[in-house]
Amino acid sequence: MKSIVYISKACQQFSQEDLNRLAQKAMEKNGQLDVTGFLSLHDDRFIQYIEGDENTVEALFQTIRLDERHKVIKTLSKPLANGRNFPKWRMKHISSSVYRELSVETFILKQLEMMQDCTMDGPAWHEMIWQGIDILADKADTIN
Ligand SMILES: Cc1cc2nc3c(=O)[nH]c(=O)nc-3n(C[C@H](O)[C@H](O)[C@H](O)COP(=O)(O)O)c2cc1C
Repeated sequence: MKSIVYISKACQQFSQEDLNRLAQKAMEKNGQLDVTGFLSLHDDRFIQYIEGDENTVEALFQTIRLDERHKVIKTLSKPLANGRNFPKWRMKHISSSVYRELSVETFILKQLEMMQDCTMDGPAWHEMIWQGIDILADKADTIN
């Protein structure tokens, strides 16, 4: 089992409808692949987290990476030693307001803003991203 989280820049405008359509399709396909995770768009940045069987997740990420609607800027991955973080989320679309309610933005959205500054990198940044994922995983059951 493996997890991948990436940040990308949208190459086009995504209306709410575009985003819903994308999330719906991702949800159907990920359900078939037994991949779980979440997707969020904040300004023109996507953050997506996927987890599942190692080969499946890697193949899915290659497909997503080639999608011309966005350009992947940064990718992190980790083996999933203790099982899934989001077993119930096929591909949850998380709006910015949910992050705000949960104050998870401190950990993820702030990092996204800092991504604008391309010098932001290194172990501390990686740690913050994974911390944000852990916090979200803890609260996953309270988000609908
Ligand atoms: C930001 C972003 C996230 C995406 N996430 C997923 C995903 O989790 N699962 C998925 O199947 N497709 C996802 N897609 C779509 C894929 O890139 C690709 O268009 C789709 O898998 C092609 O499916 P098809 O071959 O069945 O038409 C995403 C696209 C974008 C732009």
